[in-house]
Amino acid sequence: MKVDLLLGLQWGDEGKGKIVDVLTSNYDIIARFQGGPNAGHTLEFDGIKHVLHTIPSGIFNAGVTNLIGNGVVIDPIIFKKEIESIEKLNIETSELLISKKAHLILPTHKMLDKASEIAKGKNKIGSTLKGIGPTYMDKTGRNGLRVGDINSENFEDKYNKLKEKHITLLKFYSFEESIDELEKEWFESIESIRKFKLIDSEEFLHNQLLANKSVLAEGAQGSLLDIDFGSYPFVTSSNTIAAGACTGLGVAPNKIGEVFGIFKAYCTRVGSGPFPTELFDSIGEEIQRVGNEFGATTGRPRRCGWLDLVALKKAIFTNSVTDLCITKLDVLDEMKKINVCIDYEDDLPVYKEFEGWLSSTEGITEYDSLPNNAQIFIKYIEDFVKSKASIISTGPSRDQTILR
Ligand code: GDP
Ligand code: IMO
Ligand code: MG
Repeated sequence: MKVDLLLGLQWGDEGKGKIVDVLTSNYDIIARFQGGPNAGHTLEFDGIKHVLHTIPSGIFNAGVTNLIGNGVVIDPIIFKKEIESIEKLNIETSELLISKKAHLILPTHKMLDKASEIAKGKNKIGSTLKGIGPTYMDKTGRNGLRVGDINSENFEDKYNKLKEKHITLLKFYSFEESIDELEKEWFESIESIRKFKLIDSEEFLHNQLLANKSVLAEGAQGSLLDIDFGSYPFVTSSNTIAAGACTGLGVAPNKIGEVFGIFKAYCTRVGSGPFPTELFDSIGEEIQRVGNEFGATTGRPRRCGWLDLVALKKAIFTNSVTDLCITKLDVLDEMKKINVCIDYEDDLPVYKEFEGWLSSTEGITEYDSLPNNAQIFIKYIEDFVKSKASIISTGPSRDQTILR
């Protein structure tokens, strides 16, 4: 067996949570491989809407094992709240596994994130301020605290040593904020991590694949936010592309199977950085309103624009996508004209214009039932990027999905 991947091809928020939830019934294991609570993955089913930050989107399916891989960074405080809100729905969480090698976000990491953004001023990244960058810096700087450390005798000493280093850095930024309350909550929340099985994800997955178990790796953020291939420096601090799943779980490249690449029928971006097809007019506002484009983690309005097929094509090859998945097609239902960027001339997007379909696609589950203009739009995208859309999403709910 191989590990299938599902990842975002744009700037995040493509609908990964929904589609993982749709696909979960085909898999034994769902595994997150990078990022942390900067992610907000929304699932909707049976009238329930739920946002996950650290926990894989397979958690609502009984009998599925969910794994938080070594590549993920965990904020114990957010993790504890997530577990509590899931358990309130009477969902069993005991099958959740956590890699001992996943890194911990300390309260001072969050402060450093804030201090760094303030210091950058108008050049700020627009970080979610969840401490992601500083935590990955400590990981690669070989100073980090890992989940496995919570059971070591000198865990508090290790914590204090790292905290002291952070306090020195915060002084450099002249950043002062009381830490006592957060620190207390942090140590209390560490206890909720202890309740789960802490494992070596690489060994676990190796044995599961040998035992013929199926695995879906769930990406966070999107390819255009990748630390190497995204619009640096306006990126996140992990490898969001397919290769990140290998290092973030401990699986070799030749063990990767299908790669599901997800994108919206338009584009959004939350935070700073270039967005060539961004709309600053009433059409952009309309997409934001109809698509409810507000961040699932921070509530910030998402910038909206037309689909960029040049960027999409690149994301498809850096990930070697085998299956495309288009989401939020229904958001364009009322658009008279729809543009997609097919080229750049002097750094400016060149658009191809489509006639809108001006009828509701919401909840459609059969491809042939889509209006003709919507089919023309999808076919053009498929031909342009030379890849087939095997999943088309026509609404936020689990059942509002076309599987081809
Ligand atoms: P993720 O981070 O990739 O999991 O995506 P988010 O959850 O941050 O953002 C996607 C938003 O779009 C969520 O509010 C979803 O409920 C919603 N959504 C997902 N698919 C569709 C769709 O096909 N149509 C509509 N209208 N909403 C969708
Ligand atoms: P999901 O998994 C959209 C963006 C932030 C900021 C940049 C760096 O829900 O798709 P960070 O907090 O990582 O230092 O922020 O990346 N960003 C996201 N945008 N969806 C996400 O996750 C994101 N995670 C980070 O807005 O521009
Ligand atoms: Mg999101």
